[in-house]
Amino acid sequence: MNVPYLDLKAQYAAIKNEIHAAVNDVMENTAFAGGPYVAGFEKEFAKFCDCKHAIGVGNGTDALWLSLLALGIGPGDDVITVPNTFIATAEAVTYCGAKPVFVDVDEQTYNMNPSLLEAAITPRTKAIIPVHLFGQTADMDPILAIAGAHRLPVVEDACQAHGAEYKGRKAGSLGVTGCFSFYPGKNLGAYGEAGAVVTNDDAIAEKIRMLRDHGQSKKYYHGVIGWNARMDGIQGAVLNVKLKYLVRWNESRRAHAREYARLLSPLEGIITPSEADYAKHIYHIYAIRTRQRDRLMAALAEQGISCGIHYPVSIHLQDAYRFLGLKAGSFPVAEKCAEELLSLPMFPELTTGQIAYVADTLVSVLKLDP
Ligand SMILES: Cc1ncc(COP(=O)(O)O)c(C=O)c1O
Repeated sequence: MNVPYLDLKAQYAAIKNEIHAAVNDVMENTAFAGGPYVAGFEKEFAKFCDCKHAIGVGNGTDALWLSLLALGIGPGDDVITVPNTFIATAEAVTYCGAKPVFVDVDEQTYNMNPSLLEAAITPRTKAIIPVHLFGQTADMDPILAIAGAHRLPVVEDACQAHGAEYKGRKAGSLGVTGCFSFYPGKNLGAYGEAGAVVTNDDAIAEKIRMLRDHGQSKKYYHGVIGWNARMDGIQGAVLNVKLKYLVRWNESRRAHAREYARLLSPLEGIITPSEADYAKHIYHIYAIRTRQRDRLMAALAEQGISCGIHYPVSIHLQDAYRFLGLKAGSFPVAEKCAEELLSLPMFPELTTGQIAYVADTLVSVLKLDP
């Protein structure tokens, strides 16, 4: 049996007619850049996130970058985030001219450890970016309390957390802004590149709307220097179709996670993901922890099962960030994540047969050579 890591074709097959009709509409109306289909999606996505505004942008990296620019982050500033994230979180900070400063993560959730946050704050700190890794929010109350005490804005990196919840509140609605990626493999994925910022702050929303469109609020009148970071019309139309299915797809992922946990948690040598009591995890990624990652990954591949590694190198140890001068051992939990996490196949259309096959394969490899 073959089990892909992700099967976008299965999802496309299920919604093909609706997608074709929506894309056709965009073509007929030649509404390609920004325009009514993007505006329609923004309205629905803001509602979905319980936020006043959603601003469609080119991708999740733009969402983070423009959020920081709108907050006035620039050269000489530090922004605190975590080292075990996709590099875009740190890139957005660097592209404002600021410096990423890392705090280590919690061993259960792999998200920012709030007990380490206060010690990382200095007079140069200007913002905090918790990342809701794999579809589970960071522990936001203590993070927001510390940020509030220091009058620091919190930008949520919710690029992997569409529909995730913290104590019943939607990911993205907790900070000053919430940043989403609609990269095709995400729980809500475009048919190309796209992203969004959500916020309840009118002034920040207005700034980001201007920044994404060359700093203009009226055509060819440029109040500030911006950029072209607009979402395109086809992505708006596709995302509006897919948004209607997101809750159902997230529930399927949660059911798959329960099934994986039932089959895998009794196994010695494997730690299954834990859902914190504050969280509704939406399992963008289902990552197990094991000291035998390479061996298990190779054995699964031999049986036709594809896996992923998120992420093999912590950001502070990437060549691109060597200039920060941070050494191995600086963030032990994040570094352990980089060595031990293994992402198993996870997508809504995964079948219980496929999950059983993945689990059986892991059981037999571990039994042969524990
Ligand atoms: C945690 C995180 N932050 C930021 C991004 C950047 O999003 P994009 O690829 O849409 O620019 C991603 C996307 O993979 C992500 O997973």
